[in-house]
Amino acid sequence: MLYLTRRETFNAGHRLFRPDWTDEENENLYGKCSNPHWHGHNYVLYITVKGNVNPETGLVVNLKTLGKLIREHIIEKIDHMNINTQVGFMKGRIASSENIAIAIWEELEPRIKGAGVKLHCVKIVETENNYVEFYGKE
Ligand code: NI
Repeated sequence: MLYLTRRETFNAGHRLFRPDWTDEENENLYGKCSNPHWHGHNYVLYITVKGNVNPETGLVVNLKTLGKLIREHIIEKIDHMNINTQVGFMKGRIASSENIAIAIWEELEPRIKGAGVKLHCVKIVETENNYVEFYGKE
């Protein structure tokens, strides 16, 4: 079994908040990320897949295919967008890194299976001090 990771970046705006809470309650939980006037992050996305190396090609997956899947289904839809209002796969979810990782997993998992490997991890780095990793539901 071999693990391969592809890195991509995007920048996007968001606000962490629950509409049924007051600004003060949101600020208490989410801090600066609940700013009602939005703000952005330079996100780094790591997609890790696992599989066996094909002895004919020496590769676990065609990187061109994998990169295209990630760009087409994720990056083009989220880069320079407002995650709360403009990203279809984030509709109805709080725009946290946790939820972004889960939504990206759901978008990519079946497509990556189609490319002959298994999705292992979606990692999102939101700031240099915070990142999340999602390994699928138990
Ligand atoms: Ni934020």
